[in-house]
Amino acid sequence: MTSVKECRRSEGGKFALMRRGAEVQLSRHKMAKYALDLAMAPLGLEVRRREHDFSDTRNFIPFHSTLQAAERAGLSIGDYIDSVLNKTPGATQATIDGMRALGVFARPVDSVVEIGSGSGRYVEKTIAACAPKRYEIYETSKVWADYVGSKYGVVVRPTDGKTLSSTSAGGTDLVQAHKVFSGIPSLPTWIYWTEMSRVCRKGGHVVFDILTEACLDLGTLEKWVNSGIENGAYPAAMPRSLALDYFSDRGFDIAGTFLVPMGLGRTTEVFVFRKG
Ligand SMILES: C[S@@+](CC[C@H](N)C(=O)[O-])C[C@H]1O[C@@H](n2cnc3c(N)ncnc32)[C@H](O)[C@@H]1O
Repeated sequence: MTSVKECRRSEGGKFALMRRGAEVQLSRHKMAKYALDLAMAPLGLEVRRREHDFSDTRNFIPFHSTLQAAERAGLSIGDYIDSVLNKTPGATQATIDGMRALGVFARPVDSVVEIGSGSGRYVEKTIAACAPKRYEIYETSKVWADYVGSKYGVVVRPTDGKTLSSTSAGGTDLVQAHKVFSGIPSLPTWIYWTEMSRVCRKGGHVVFDILTEACLDLGTLEKWVNSGIENGAYPAAMPRSLALDYFSDRGFDIAGTFLVPMGLGRTTEVFVFRKG
């Protein structure tokens, strides 16, 4: 094993070390990683660049590298996710437009609760659509939650991954979750549904998308199979009849549903419910 002591600074800002009798040149970054790997190896750990890990949906996409990539591309983080990562330019705005067409913004929307706000791309466009006085987010990724909290001045709520425990019953105009319930198991989704129904005020709206049979056919199944995603809960499918029955049973009317893109030619179905 090579020890860090055997390394020396070479010309051009590179570092050189002897490995199996040959000199190897490393950049400052690689050298730092190499030194860390050496130090952590006895603990069985290795330092790795954080990639998007689909089996770990509670942590969302890497924070720093995504912000940097968006900046390099000269795009807002939301536009970068839509256009570059998901290859679905305009998808976020299309969802907001669909919600508007179904009456979500027809009356003043003073309070919003959003589950799984991620980068805040829906926060940004929702604020633009209705300028709410109170906007709360429940987000399991602390780094993204803090970023969205300070960037958009929204309230970051303690998040246990299934409840809206800091929000009182019946006082919120719009309760929404976008691209969240396709990435978590069924049970927390259903618990979130009870919570969304609880905190929504009469005349308010609950909006979320799920991967229903309207989004699944044999060709789409093939795309998922070949997507290379090392899965965890993602993608989680849900019968549309269950969502319709569940909210109908709790006194909601369905204002409508529509399909929005979810990358690689796939879609997800957005449901807009109004509490009667
Ligand atoms: C696929 S991302 C979608 C983010 C954002 N809504 C968007 O469409 O850009 C799912 C988000 O939900 C968060 N999340 C995952 N599980 C959660 C849970 N149980 N409760 C709250 N947020 C969760 C993730 O950290 C991530 O930010």
